Amino acid sequence: MSKMKKVMLVFGTRPEAIKMCPLVKELKAYPDKFDVAVCVTGQHREMLDQVLSVFGVVPEYDLSIMKPGQTLFDVTCSVLNKLKPVLESWGPDVVLVHGDTTTSFAAALSCFYLHIPVGHVEAGLRTYNLDSPWPEEFNRQAVDLVCKWYFAPTEVSRQNLISEGKPKERIWVTGNTGIDALKTTVTSDYSNPVLDWAAGSRLILITAHRRENLGMPMHHMFRAIRRVMEEHPDTKAVYPIHMNPTVRKAAHEELDGFDRLRIIDPLGVLDFHNFMAASYLILTDSGGIQEEAPSLGKPVLVMRDTTERPEGIKAGTLKLVGTNEETIYNEFSRLLSDKSEYLAMSHASNPYGDGKASKRIASILSA
Ligand code: UD1
Ligand code: UDP
Repeated sequence: MSKMKKVMLVFGTRPEAIKMCPLVKELKAYPDKFDVAVCVTGQHREMLDQVLSVFGVVPEYDLSIMKPGQTLFDVTCSVLNKLKPVLESWGPDVVLVHGDTTTSFAAALSCFYLHIPVGHVEAGLRTYNLDSPWPEEFNRQAVDLVCKWYFAPTEVSRQNLISEGKPKERIWVTGNTGIDALKTTVTSDYSNPVLDWAAGSRLILITAHRRENLGMPMHHMFRAIRRVMEEHPDTKAVYPIHMNPTVRKAAHEELDGFDRLRIIDPLGVLDFHNFMAASYLILTDSGGIQEEAPSLGKPVLVMRDTTERPEGIKAGTLKLVGTNEETIYNEFSRLLSDKSEYLAMSHASNPYGDGKASKRIASILSA
């Protein structure tokens, strides 16, 4: 029988929490196999806490690093300095990090410095363009340099890792744990006053936050969205806005005073997933939403120049539209006016998993 493993999960932002909480719960379900500790860096605060409370996860350690307007230097240095004593005192056999945030990169680097094995959940996503998404493409490649366990969500991500020379026997295709979360949140009897407000209209759901889109690209996105919405009176939009003050400023400058578009605070994940399920289409630059939308059969216009999620493009649910105002205007207009194009993008499929990724990861770790 293999000995009990001390597993620490380190994460810090909303999307990591959404995709790691199902795994925390799965690992904690086997106290004979795993001694589990959660260490949140607090790279996000309110948006992280929202997720932890939905999943009922109470971290054993909280580094509380967030500060308003934090730079990548702030996040990296704070994680390195504050995580070191936690790792040294708790002494994990393995640390699990997720995806491509600066929390994940700095946590993996801390483990490398302390010779602690790392498992990468959502390993192998790539654009091979270090500027897009920035700095995430660097973060995920750097994490994969120091990994012992590669939990690739799809065959495409496995192939990326193999082509980089990562050891085949250390790569497992597990599905994405984000889909595990999605299986628990969407319900047919969900209701919300904001959805009541939008009832009878085609609901457009919007999110935007990427660092490389801050500044003019984001202004162009918002202008395009507003122009299209003004021409389609049967639409209403909800924009649960990221807490980044730079995003908020741009959004209010471009979108205020248009009463069929509501900017609201970030939604809890349970609410957001149900809003997705109720939407007609989604405009976003988010990564995770690109994985969730195909499962729900919701067309997504991805306002980015690159994507590391080609599976959703192949499935037909996602369309990459960049950040040029005229391109977004044309593609968004077309999707609202052309029913056959809309239907072609609306088929549900599951390229990112079957909701059992956490179970697979736990089983691999217990071996
Ligand atoms: C981070 C990740 C990005 C991920 C995104 C998910 C990096 C470099 N970026 O980007 O990969 O896609 O999270 O949302 O790791 N803020 C709050 N409260 C919160 C969260 C953020 O006030 O709960 C504000 C703060 O002013 C903070 C700013 O938002 O300084 C930006 O947060 P930060 O985590 O640095 O970057 P994100 O753009 O959120
Ligand atoms: N999400 C949420 N509330 C919101 C907007 C998004 O819970 O108001 C969820 C969404 O369902 C997805 C995740 O947050 O699971 C995506 O996070 P984000 O877009 O911040 O980061 P990314 O995936 O781009 O790294």
